[in-house]
Amino acid sequence: MLWQIFGFLIISVVTSNTVTDAAATNQVDPKQFVADASTRYYKLYNQIAEETYSSTDDEDFNTIFTKLATVKRIAAELVQISEEASEYNLESIRDVQVKAALQNLRRVGELFVLGEEYFSSVLINFAALKELSTDKDIEPYLGGANMKDQDDSPLAYYPDIQKIFQQSNDSDELKYYWESWREKNLVWSSINFYTIIEAFQNAAKILDMSVLEFWFRCYNNKEFLKEMDKVMEDIKPAYKQLHAFIRNELHKKYGGSVVNPRGPIPDHLFQQVREQAWQANSVIEPYFSKASLPPYDTFVAHFEPRSMIDAAENFYKSLGLTELPSEFFDKQLKEQDESAESGDCRADIFDLTPYVYMKYCKKVEFRKFLQTHGYLGRVHYAREKRNLPSYFFPSYDLEYPVGEAVILSASTPKHLQTIGLSKDFQFTEPILMNRLFRMGIHTMLNIPLYFVHTKVMNDLLNGTVEIERINKHYWELMEKYAGVEPPSDRPENAIDFPYSFYLDMEENHQTKYV
Ligand SMILES: *[C@@H]1O[C@H](CO)[C@@H](O)[C@H](O)[C@H]1NC(C)=O
Ligand SMILES: *[C@@H]1O[C@H](CO)[C@@H](O)[C@H](O)[C@H]1NC(C)=O
Repeated sequence: MLWQIFGFLIISVVTSNTVTDAAATNQVDPKQFVADASTRYYKLYNQIAEETYSSTDDEDFNTIFTKLATVKRIAAELVQISEEASEYNLESIRDVQVKAALQNLRRVGELFVLGEEYFSSVLINFAALKELSTDKDIEPYLGGANMKDQDDSPLAYYPDIQKIFQQSNDSDELKYYWESWREKNLVWSSINFYTIIEAFQNAAKILDMSVLEFWFRCYNNKEFLKEMDKVMEDIKPAYKQLHAFIRNELHKKYGGSVVNPRGPIPDHLFQQVREQAWQANSVIEPYFSKASLPPYDTFVAHFEPRSMIDAAENFYKSLGLTELPSEFFDKQLKEQDESAESGDCRADIFDLTPYVYMKYCKKVEFRKFLQTHGYLGRVHYAREKRNLPSYFFPSYDLEYPVGEAVILSASTPKHLQTIGLSKDFQFTEPILMNRLFRMGIHTMLNIPLYFVHTKVMNDLLNGTVEIERINKHYWELMEKYAGVEPPSDRPENAIDFPYSFYLDMEENHQTKYV
């Protein structure tokens, strides 16, 4: 995402300039130029990171970042670098690596053809899409009759409505929130979404690049959609079994008028099952009760918020990774203020590889403990990149999967026992099954959703589907890959993407589903 922001800042700064088709008379040796450019980049990243981090503002890093005046100055310098890169004649360069680096550096420069409007519009549209989930503008169900003290104040999707999905077993209530949130946001989500798509299409056209390639430009793997498709095939047999089990349980619980025992699962109930994977009272409760899960939160109750981070860091050290320097703990790590504590309270991560700045949540609970392992994966990964040239910094690589893999290992009974967190607890067979089944629900049911989100964007940008049909296409994919349908007939103009779609669109939130 930051790469995109830089891209668009660059655009804004240089529209008035013209590219000098400079005859390179006293041009620096290309290899030297690439090395210098890398160092210059690095310094600029540092400045931005430090300034954002040292802001006393309690907003999230990205919001602070968009307000910094110096960002524009720094962007101008980045533009300078890319302009200089464009001056090299690629034909005459033999060294493959240098050539690739120059091409990379050039591409950044090419973005400025878009003009200021796109820069300001795309940034604002992305921010607006995210805000749709935090604006408190949804009337509570039945005027607040189900709320504590019959409170009728309006609710936000996040965290209020999400919490209701974790607790409610009332299908009508969930359906009401599912529909109201989409209805409330219909106009703004479409405007913001369409504007972003249009901006990307225009940018790609000017750059003479396919819009698909432009959209996925940070990914190193060009075949990843194909590979995801293969994964979908691989998990299909297991997924179908799990789906059938859940559908049957939902049918027993809510009856045939709500859940067709042979059809797709209505989305509001599918969401409920996912949200309740670790809660009591879900459809799995009769088989695996919440009460018989290990007392996970008591395992970590003795921790201070900060010492959870140290414990997670020990895991990475035990893998043989270089210890994080004291500089990270002193200068790049901050505690969130109290206001962040409501709701899920995720860490705020500002990724300026090779630096990662982090505001962590003060809640001490097992889930946070695991999420911390994921965050540190990102920090380590970014740090390991510090010895690479900076044009590798923005590419998405393995930081998310590495974080997830570490989370899986760190949560095993064996590990918890080894580090002394679950000393007196006996992980019996039924308890292990309980844990595994809940993990299965939580993980397996989310995979098709990730895939559908990626495929929707892919098909739209590749022109496989017209923008007017995007919602229909979304539901076709949801039915095909997830076995899920909307809870009611949808209006022609609806855009029914969930909140997580916009998050996925903007950036990968690694531990979102933990
Ligand atoms: C929902 O939960 C309440 C209390 O836990 C219970 O009395 C009720 O029967 C449940 N309703 C359904 C549809 O399962
Ligand atoms: C894009 O669309 C073309 C045809 O319209 C198709 O052949 C190609 O496979 C698509 N590419 C991707 C990555 O979806």
